[in-house]
Amino acid sequence: MSEESITLTDNRSGKSVTVPIEHGVFSSQGVRELDPGLFFYDPAFKSTASCSSSITDLDGVNGILRFRGYPIEQLAEKSTFLEVAYLLINGELPTPAQYEEWVHHVTYHTYIHENTADFIKGFRYDAHPMGMLVSVVAALSTFYPESKQIHDPQIRMIQAIRLIAKMPTMAAFAYRHSVGLPREYPVNHLTYTGNFLRMMWNVADPNYEPNPVLAKALDLLFILHADHEQNCSTTTMRTVGSAGADPFISVAAAASALYGPLHGGANEKVIRMLHEIGDVKNVAAYVDKVKKGELKLQGFGHRVYKNYDPRARIIKKTADDVFAVTGTNPLLEIALKLEEVALSDDYFIERKLYPNVDFYSGLIYEAMGFPMDMFTVLFAIGRTPGWLAHWLELVQDPEQKIYRPRQAYIGPDKRDYVPIDQR
Ligand code: ACO
Repeated sequence: MSEESITLTDNRSGKSVTVPIEHGVFSSQGVRELDPGLFFYDPAFKSTASCSSSITDLDGVNGILRFRGYPIEQLAEKSTFLEVAYLLINGELPTPAQYEEWVHHVTYHTYIHENTADFIKGFRYDAHPMGMLVSVVAALSTFYPESKQIHDPQIRMIQAIRLIAKMPTMAAFAYRHSVGLPREYPVNHLTYTGNFLRMMWNVADPNYEPNPVLAKALDLLFILHADHEQNCSTTTMRTVGSAGADPFISVAAAASALYGPLHGGANEKVIRMLHEIGDVKNVAAYVDKVKKGELKLQGFGHRVYKNYDPRARIIKKTADDVFAVTGTNPLLEIALKLEEVALSDDYFIERKLYPNVDFYSGLIYEAMGFPMDMFTVLFAIGRTPGWLAHWLELVQDPEQKIYRPRQAYIGPDKRDYVPIDQR
C-alpha cells in the first residue's frame, strides 16, 4: 500500500475500501470493489484520468509544461520542431545520427499521392481549409491500407513519419485551392517550416527563400503546440485509436475535435474579437459585457491552467521578433490592453482566467500573412506529433481497452408501445 490513500465508504452497505493514491490519482477499481454496478458521474471528464502517460507533464496550478521531462521553455529556446517531434514519438532526444535520419525520413515523405491532392480540387472555392484537411487526412488511410496493421511497430512508425511529413503539404494545398493558386510542391533543401512557408507563399520564383526569422518563429509556434496531454483532440485520438482504427483516421478525428471553436478554433476567434473591439478605448466596455456573461473573452481561460499559460508567455516574446520583420500588428495594442484590464479585474482573478496559448498566436499568424481560417490548420500541423505519440503509447499499453464510458440513465422507466392511431 502506498503512503497516500483514500478511504471510501458505501453508506448503503457499510462496506469500506482503502485505495492507494499514486501519481495524484486513485483507481476506479476501488469503487468497483465496493459495488461493481457503481460509476462516477463526471461530465466532461473534469476529474477523470483516462490513462497513464509518460509524454507530457502539465501542472496547471503552477503553470508548468514539460515534454518527456524537458521544460517547454528550454525546448522553445534550444530545440527544433522536428527534434521535439522525435522526442515526443520516441521518448528521448535524438543523437546527431538519429536526428539526421529522422529529418531525412520526414523530408522524403512530404509528397502526397496526386489523387489525394486532386480531392482538394473538388471543394468549393470558399471551403474552410480545416474541413479540407480533415477530409484529406482521412482519405490518406485508403492510400496506405497497411496502416491498419497497428500492432506492427515498423508499420506504425512509417505512418507516424508520413503524417508529420504530409500535414504541411495538405495544409498548403488546401490554402492554395482557396485562393485559386496552383499547388507548390515540396522541395528537399529547405527546413520543415521553411518548406511549408514556400508551399504557402511562393508564386513562380524558382529561387524562393523563406524569411529565416519567420520560419524560426513558426517552428517555435509548432513546438509550443506539439502536445498538451489529454486535451479534447488528443482524447479523441485515443478514443478512436482505442477501437483499433488506423492513425490516419484517428488523426482525422482528432483534427475534427480541434476544429471546434472552444479548442483549436479559439485563435481565429481571438482575432475576430480584437477586430470587433476595434480600438483600445473600447476595451473596458467589452470587458463589462464579458463580466455580464454576454460574451466570452476569447483566448482566456483553460480547463487545466489556473495560472498564466507558459506557452502564451513564450509566444508574447516571439511576437517582437516577428513584428520586427512584418511590421507590428495594430491589434497588438488592443490585446495588451485587454490582458492588462482583465488581469486586474476581480471577475478574472476569482475565476483564475489568464491568457492561453491562443491569445497571442493569432496576432503572429496574422502578421505573417496567414488568413484567419488557416490558424487552426497551423495548430493541427504542430499538434500532429503529440496526437501520434499518444496513439503509439495507447496501442502499446496493456491496460488500455476500447474506450467505453458509462452513463447515468435519466430517461423514462419501462412503458408500453402505443400504436400511432391511439396517441
Ligand atoms: N471569458 C469569460 N468568462 C470565462 C471564460 C472566458 N474566456 N472562460 C471561462 N469563463 C468563466 C465561466 O463563465 C465560468 O464562470 P462561472 O463560474 O461564473 O459560471 C468560469 O469562468 C469557469 O469556466 P468553465 O466554462 O467552467 O471552464 P471550462 O474549463 O469548462 O472551459 C474553456 C475552459 C473552454 C477554455 C473556457 O475557458 C473558454 O471557453 N475560453 C474561451 C475559448 C478559448 O480560449 N479556448 C482555447 C482553450 S486553449 C486550447 O484549446 C488550445
